[in-house]
Amino acid sequence: MHPERFTVDSNRKYLARLGAGLAAGLGAAALVWTGTAANAEIAGPQGDFEAQIIGGDEVAEGQYPWLVGLGSPGEGTPWERQFCGGSVIAPTVVLTAAHCVEDAAAGDLAVFSGSVDLESADVAETAVADLHVAPGYNDPVAFANDWALLLLAEPVDAEPIGLSADPAVFDALETAGWGLTEDNEYPTVARWVEVPFIDDDACAGAYPGETDAVSMLCAGDLADGGIDSCSGDSGGPIMAPGEDGGLVLAGIVSWGYGSAEAGHPGVYAEVAEFDEAIAEVLADWGV
Ligand code: ARG
Repeated sequence: MHPERFTVDSNRKYLARLGAGLAAGLGAAALVWTGTAANAEIAGPQGDFEAQIIGGDEVAEGQYPWLVGLGSPGEGTPWERQFCGGSVIAPTVVLTAAHCVEDAAAGDLAVFSGSVDLESADVAETAVADLHVAPGYNDPVAFANDWALLLLAEPVDAEPIGLSADPAVFDALETAGWGLTEDNEYPTVARWVEVPFIDDDACAGAYPGETDAVSMLCAGDLADGGIDSCSGDSGGPIMAPGEDGGLVLAGIVSWGYGSAEAGHPGVYAEVAEFDEAIAEVLADWGV
């Protein structure tokens, strides 16, 4: 059985933040509590909504060579300890969500790379030497500027993904991670799904007063739901086609009301808005 982990409750961002903090800060009893609350919620008010990465498929080895899991160091398999995702943007740097690590110290974190299967013997575990949480996190609204950088203790064998420089109108987007599936399970093999881009006005309409058009972008099936990122995917990538036929990092899994509900798309930190701030941190770290 999977150990209880923090999950995002369906419509209270407060819990999401609390959960992430607890996951990073540890505390088994607290983790049980958040896990239970989230499960109750998933089975609760929305009843029959199709919760998965919702609506997606398994990631193949090598499909997203920058995709890493973020978890706690210690006992148990990487899958048992993973609580967020991340993207390798330089051999020693991972970009993730601020809400995944805001209450953590570097020593509370471990990065899992090397396989899409977190139960595989091929997974490498790397310690975190330093972390930088976006100074603008939660400003001007909750979850604004939801990004953070991890400096790794040693380089990982992963292919970094380039950052999108255009705040944007995207077309096809795809997101991936080890978050909850439609079966309300944490998969051991990462999953991915293609999600349509939703423009700022439509997203603001879905979440009145809660979005920041500057630092957030939205994606999902607004009319029908059924496809989305979900709890445990936070910090991981949402990707757009790049100029050379590859993918660029358009955003970071951040928040949403529930998962895959019609009318409530996924919200992602918009990377192009802080690509320069990221470059400055890398320069400070001498990367
Ligand atoms: N905050 C979540 C996490 O910590 C991710 C939520 C994404 N939700 C969504 N409906 N797309 O894992």
